[in-house]
Amino acid sequence: MKPVEIAEGIYDVGVNDWNIEDFHGYSTPYGSSYNAFLILDEKIALIDTVKKGFEAELFSKISQIVDPGKIDILISNHSEMDHSGGLPEVMRAIGEETPIFCSKMGAKNLSGHFTQPWNYHAVANGEKLNLGRRTLKFIETRMLHWPDSMFTYVQPDNILFSSDAFGQHYAGNEKFDDVIGGAIMPHAKKYFANILMHFSPQVLKLLDNVPKMGLAPRMICPDHGVLWRRDIGKIIDAYARWSRQEIRAKAIVVYDSMWHSTEMMADAIASGLDDVGVEVRPMSLRKWHRSDVMTEVLDAGAILVGSPTLNNGLFPTVADMLTYMRGLRPQKKIAAAFGSYGWSGEAVKHINQAFEDMKLEIVDPGLRIKYVPDEASMTACFDFGRKIGERILQELK
Ligand code: FEO
Repeated sequence: MKPVEIAEGIYDVGVNDWNIEDFHGYSTPYGSSYNAFLILDEKIALIDTVKKGFEAELFSKISQIVDPGKIDILISNHSEMDHSGGLPEVMRAIGEETPIFCSKMGAKNLSGHFTQPWNYHAVANGEKLNLGRRTLKFIETRMLHWPDSMFTYVQPDNILFSSDAFGQHYAGNEKFDDVIGGAIMPHAKKYFANILMHFSPQVLKLLDNVPKMGLAPRMICPDHGVLWRRDIGKIIDAYARWSRQEIRAKAIVVYDSMWHSTEMMADAIASGLDDVGVEVRPMSLRKWHRSDVMTEVLDAGAILVGSPTLNNGLFPTVADMLTYMRGLRPQKKIAAAFGSYGWSGEAVKHINQAFEDMKLEIVDPGLRIKYVPDEASMTACFDFGRKIGERILQELK
C-alpha cells in the first residue's frame, strides 16, 4: 500500500486493520485503521504509531518517503496500545534515543506499558515545537478519552491531529470525508457513542476552547478512519449535538427473553410507543450488539430495558448491556424497566438500580408480568409504552 500525501510534505502512513471485529467490546464489522502521520521538514516527525503486528506496513509506507532512521522526533498523542503497540519496533528502527514528545500522563503511561528507558519529553498544554518551516502546538485533552490524550496542531498548515477524537472504526480505501461522503457519519456516531459519550462535558469544553486557543483547523486528522477536510463544520456540529446528548422523540426497547414472555412484553410496549408517535427501536440482545444499542441510545429520549428473572437476577445479556451502558453514562433520558418472571421477579429491581447508578430519571416503578402475558397483560404493556411515549413528547415541548 502507498502512503497518502494529505498536505504538502505531510503523509498518512497508517494502516488499515480490515479484519478486526471487536475493539475492546465494541463491534467493528467494518474493521478499523490506525492512522499515523509523517511530517517532512528540517526535522522529520512521526505522529503516533500503529497497533503491534502492523509495524511492517507502517515501515513500508515510511520507507517509500524517507529512510525511517532519519525520523528525528516521535509524537505520541495517546498511549493506548492501538497507537503505541508498535513503539518498541519503531524505536528500534528510528533509534532508541529519539525524543518522544507526549503529555506528562503520556510519559507515565508509556513507561508503565514499556520497560525501555526512552527519551520522553513531557509537554505542557500549549507548548510549541519548531520543526523548521512548521511549528507544532500541543494541546492537552485530558479524558478525551484517556488522561494522557493530547492533540497536535500543525502551523501554518492548520491541521489538527486529533488522536481518537473525531475518529471512526472504519477500514476503507477512502481516505477523506469528501470521498466517502455522508456514509461515514453513522460510523462517527457509533464511535462517539461508544468511546466518548462518557466524556461529553469534556468534548463541549474543548469545542468551546478551540477558537479561544487561536486554532482554526482546515483539516482534522483522527487516528482512526477517514480524515475530515471538506466540511469540518459538519463533524464539529455533530460532536456539539452528540455531546449535548440532544434527544429526539425516540425510544429504544432493549431486552432479552428466556421463553418469549419478555419478548412479547417488548413488542407490546413498542406498539404503545409507536401509537403515540414516538420512533421506536426494539432491540433484542440476541441480535443487537451492545455497541449498536449505545449508538441508538445516544439520541433517544427514553431507554426501556427488559429482562426475565434468572436465579433472582438479570438475564446475563441484559446484565452485560447494563454494565456497558453504565460505564458510558447516557444522560438526559427517561428510563423504565420491564420483565416477566416465574416466582420472585427481581429483574426489574436490578434494572432500576442500574438506572439509578446512571442517574437517569425513572418514570415508572417498572412493569412485571408473571409467566406468559395474557390479553390483559398485553394491554398493560401497550399502555406502559404509551405512557413512556407521552412523557418523551412532554420532555421535548
Ligand atoms: Fe484509538 Fe484510545 O485508542
